[in-house]
Amino acid sequence: MKFFVDTADVKEIQELNDLGLVDGVTTNPSLIMKSGGKILDVTRQICEIVKGPVSAEVTATDYEGMMKEAKVLMKIADNIAIKVPLTLDGLKACKAIRSDGRMVNVTLCFSATQALLAAKAGASFISPFVGRIDDMAEEGMEIVSEIRTIYDNYDFKTEILAASIRSVNHVKQAALIGADIATVPPATLKALVKHPLTDKGLATFLEDWKKTGQHIG
Ligand code: E4P
Repeated sequence: MKFFVDTADVKEIQELNDLGLVDGVTTNPSLIMKSGGKILDVTRQICEIVKGPVSAEVTATDYEGMMKEAKVLMKIADNIAIKVPLTLDGLKACKAIRSDGRMVNVTLCFSATQALLAAKAGASFISPFVGRIDDMAEEGMEIVSEIRTIYDNYDFKTEILAASIRSVNHVKQAALIGADIATVPPATLKALVKHPLTDKGLATFLEDWKKTGQHIG
């Protein structure tokens, strides 16, 4: 499973990229707002760090407006994936952008049938929002599982990008289901490494090693 990092914080992206944990990045208007930067500057800086797909979202809601914004965003770098909302205009824009050979991430997906439409529009990525479905007292991962089945039934090449990931357990469940990618907030990505028995075991090894009086090298 590939890991995308779900942030527009350039410092955090740099740190995680240096650790070798980043296969791509997803941003959205809320994340750009949190970064405090200008969308074109921030996205350009991210593309200088990360070689994999970097999602940049359009804010227009009509087809013409989306295409106009997509053209501006696509100029930032070749690894930009244009993020469009899962609406009829978004799907039309998806089809048009894909026919130009550029990547598209169809976002704000909350049902398997929406995901089916995105695949038929040729989306590179479909983003089911797991955490936001959980917030509605429903099971977000069920949608990911349904999409996996439907895409495999018809051999759709659209990659499932589990989004709105809120916990380590979400990452594990997405991996078990076979999501192609999880887009994960930086803190959750770092939390994947944590286990109390790893810390305890390491402390014991270091104590015992000290008692031997040995040094390596
Ligand atoms: C995905 O591309 C979105 O940016 C993100 O995962 C949304 O997550 P949230 O529901 O935590 O805002």
